[in-house]
Amino acid sequence: MLLRIAVQAKGRLFDETMTMLEESSIKIESGKRTLLVPAKNFPVEILYLRDDDIPQAVASGIADVGIVGLNEFAERHEDAEVIKRLDFSKCRLSLAIPKSIEYNGLSWFNGKKIATSYPHILSEFLNKNSVVADIHVITGSVEIAPGIGLADCIFDIVSSGSTLVSNNLKEVEVVMNSEAVLIGHKGLSAEKVAILNELLFRFDSYKNAEGKKYIVLNIPTDKIAAASELLPGMKAPTVTALETEGWSSLASVLEEKHFWEIIGKLKQLGAEGILVMPIEKMIL
Ligand code: PRP
Ligand code: ZN
Repeated sequence: MLLRIAVQAKGRLFDETMTMLEESSIKIESGKRTLLVPAKNFPVEILYLRDDDIPQAVASGIADVGIVGLNEFAERHEDAEVIKRLDFSKCRLSLAIPKSIEYNGLSWFNGKKIATSYPHILSEFLNKNSVVADIHVITGSVEIAPGIGLADCIFDIVSSGSTLVSNNLKEVEVVMNSEAVLIGHKGLSAEKVAILNELLFRFDSYKNAEGKKYIVLNIPTDKIAAASELLPGMKAPTVTALETEGWSSLASVLEEKHFWEIIGKLKQLGAEGILVMPIEKMIL
């Protein structure tokens, strides 16, 4: 019994999806140019699809679960469930208009022609806000539509914002925040749910460790309380007495984004011999 996971064959989600599987110790032969590839050491197989096709594949049961952008899932209205937000490939679906135009609120869109690949999400938003506009569906390169006179403005994915900038557009309304999600077929067998739970456990262990470092340092024993406050760790830091009178060794976990700030404060407390190591997995 294999759990079949639909993933994007290439594009926005591909790299991080593969990294997450790899970091969860699920080995997939990358060289294979086939659509369906079984993992070597875990009861899953990977079905490579276009992201647009993943919601339907999961709803129909062709795949058991799928990793797809929430934007894509919301657009398709397919009958599957969001099992977990995966916290990567974050982006937003936004309305953007030519940079030079003065924007004075949603009513600006009345009577305008809006180019998008997300007509459902857009029309729901417009209806809710009583805006009547003309939705023009295009499947790729939506951002060039205003420049070539195909539309007045666009509704599209914005991530870094650089696509908008290079097309002289500005984001004026965020309609939806999106990220990669794990979606699942409704009514999976108990056996498949068991595989899925193990998979989720591995994803969590990887996600928990992400951005975290293991830190070991020596510190005057009377500064342990102050240092512990800087390093909350998983529970409390581990403290070991050193042979040198009045000194202890302290081990804990630290968030990479606060790294330099915390290291600076630890040094002020007199910390020495600071070792920082990567954490591969973290089981809470
Ligand atoms: C989206 C969107 C923009 C770009 C925005 O396309 O259509 O072109 O990303 O990203 P940015 O704000 O970082 O510049 P995507 O790469 O997802 O390809 P797709 O249009 O084929 O879905
Ligand atoms: Zn797409």
